[in-house]
Amino acid sequence: MTQASKAAKSLPDLLASVMATSATPGSAHMLPEDCYTSVDFFAFEQAGVFARSWICVGRAEDIPDTGDYLAASVAGEPILVTRSEQGIHVMSAVCQHRGHVLTSTSGSAQRFRCPAHFWTYDLNGKLLGAPRMGTRPELESLCKSVQLPPIRHEIWHGFIFVNLDAEAAPLAPTLAKLEPFWANYEAADLASVPPVANDKVLPWNWKLHLENFTDAYHPEFVHGGTHDFAPSVHPDGGVAFTDMAETDNAIVRSVPLMKSDGGMNQDGWGETPAFPPIATLAPEQRKRLTFAMIPPSMTLMFSPNAISYQIVRAVSAEGTTTANDRVSGGGWLLPKTTLALADFKQRAARVQQGGGKIWAQDLPINLAMQAGKHSRFASPGRYGPLELTLQQFNAWLLRAYKKAFAMP
Ligand SMILES: [Fe+2]
Repeated sequence: MTQASKAAKSLPDLLASVMATSATPGSAHMLPEDCYTSVDFFAFEQAGVFARSWICVGRAEDIPDTGDYLAASVAGEPILVTRSEQGIHVMSAVCQHRGHVLTSTSGSAQRFRCPAHFWTYDLNGKLLGAPRMGTRPELESLCKSVQLPPIRHEIWHGFIFVNLDAEAAPLAPTLAKLEPFWANYEAADLASVPPVANDKVLPWNWKLHLENFTDAYHPEFVHGGTHDFAPSVHPDGGVAFTDMAETDNAIVRSVPLMKSDGGMNQDGWGETPAFPPIATLAPEQRKRLTFAMIPPSMTLMFSPNAISYQIVRAVSAEGTTTANDRVSGGGWLLPKTTLALADFKQRAARVQQGGGKIWAQDLPINLAMQAGKHSRFASPGRYGPLELTLQQFNAWLLRAYKKAFAMP
């Protein structure tokens, strides 16, 4: 009899075991492994978590001019983020006539015209015209009554977050614990280098991807040669965790740098960074590396030379896309003085090379971790003292799941 695979739990059975898992940090157990593989559970997450959470879709400076827009998908919903005369506007990308998706690519336009019947909308989603739909008064009446449904958004430190849930609590208060880490960075007059778009689907669950990012335990074993300069374990003090309240939407840890002003170079974290140090930072910020996760869609890294960010997209139970300096390049907030350096391109290439080395070490770990979730012998294991951020993420997930389960 083969032991190579196992029967997946039914969704009701899986939800019952998830609901029975404690969400208290410190006692949190790992999630049942089917939460990382089940198509039904992923559908539950789409409706219950992604459709009710603040999701980062890019930066306001990515669409600087009136008419610029970006297309995104949130919980499977095609959306449009536009820059109109009134500012940033977010709306459904689905034509209110017959449901055609207006566009799924980003660009610049003064209006959106549905390819199917040429119904046309302005940058705020108001219907401007619809051919052969009746007399002028009938058309005027139609235009008054039709609008692409608006979607809530909030701008946080230049990042655009959207939420399909009109009742969701505002985002910024849930990220208050990150404010001390932002201190002094924006004084350096930052500009972004957006992540290079990347649709390559990574064959693992989105939670596993975020867990790899937030895990302070693995660098010592996985990242030999690339991460020793930023150790989680060190006699003079290693990783520093932060408390997490039930209302927090950020999971944060910092590790020391072996020398002030170090950063990413072509070999990983090191003493001679490719980007110069940010002069406005306080001494303690110049000798640490802070990893911040804003589940379920983004991560930030505060280093002495840059803020790096990635936007994570869950595309299926076992499919995730992302774009950042480790995977496809870019995804930095940098002082404009850094961007103006004559050799900036070469410096950026060195950062990407070093990030790529770290990513090459993570890749087989993520693949093997996802493979193990299919085993009949996989079981929710025990977290160790270096895995507090994983417990915090687990608690965040369980709170979201329990809320979704209680939904009418
Ligand atoms: Fe890693």
